[in-house]
Amino acid sequence: MAGHATTFTDTSIDRVREYWNSRPCNLRHSPAPVGSREYFDQVEARKYLVEPHIPGFAEFPRWDGKRVLEIGCGLGTDTMNFARAGARITAVDLSSRSLELARQRAEVFGVQDRVTFIEADAERLSEFVEPAEYDLVYSFGVIHHTPHPDRVLEQIRKHFAGPRTTFKMMVYYRWAWKVFAIVLGEAHGAFWKLDQAVARSSEAQTGCPVTYTYTKDSVERLLNGSGFRVEDVFVDHIFPYRVPDYVKYRYVKAWPFSWLPAPAMRALEHRLGWHLCVTASCPGGEATRQA
Ligand SMILES: C[S@@+](CC[C@H](N)C(=O)[O-])C[C@H]1O[C@@H](n2cnc3c(N)ncnc32)[C@H](O)[C@@H]1O
Repeated sequence: MAGHATTFTDTSIDRVREYWNSRPCNLRHSPAPVGSREYFDQVEARKYLVEPHIPGFAEFPRWDGKRVLEIGCGLGTDTMNFARAGARITAVDLSSRSLELARQRAEVFGVQDRVTFIEADAERLSEFVEPAEYDLVYSFGVIHHTPHPDRVLEQIRKHFAGPRTTFKMMVYYRWAWKVFAIVLGEAHGAFWKLDQAVARSSEAQTGCPVTYTYTKDSVERLLNGSGFRVEDVFVDHIFPYRVPDYVKYRYVKAWPFSWLPAPAMRALEHRLGWHLCVTASCPGGEATRQA
């Protein structure tokens, strides 16, 4: 991977699957009984409280009546919002456990007719999902967790994107506050071990097998090299809460965020945020539209 000291290309997809099955993303976002309406409402409330930039980035209402392919839906928080906004959505994930809950969620909210869930490895997506040109291909916090991100992009370009497709993805930002905190804290300043240290601590559960990080330049190279054209890139999101309180569902800001005025915090997030949010078109897309 261009610009990376370490790659995770030797990591097996089975290890990645096992990790996400052992702890689906956002599983503990609510103390309510897992699978209940209350549980899913609280998962969504917490996700968008902590990551409030997501609805603006995803632009849910824009996809009313359109076809959306979501890669790596996890528990399906964004999936529900695409469906509620009126999109017809195909949502895939590697983790059967995440998909089980996402399916249950669609039923709880009565949108199961608008969502097709498919268990799939995005690196071989066309073996699982029928090729077609989608209006939006959306992937939030996923492509940096697969051993070969370039293969996912190649799959999208060849089988699911055409000249009218919008592609939106979030990948982790290499020069983020969180990266510095991990390297200075847990890796004791060993910058040469940055990639392994970040992978170990990037998620709520330690030991994620694959976590790449990207600069604005390296993400642009990755996308250009795969037939996409970057239309917009921004950096956002610093997690500001004290973890011991956060795990008890209390939202107490940690120093220095506790004393930073809101405009200064927003400026910091746009410089050193953890989420690199990219919108791209795909002039080289080969997918064809279905009737
Ligand atoms: C950090 S979670 C994000 C989930 C969801 N997009 C969200 O924002 O809550 C990463 C997800 O990517 C999925 N994933 C990782 N590699 C994948 C692959 N090769 N194919 C499909 N899904 C994958 C994992 O199973 C996991 O559910």
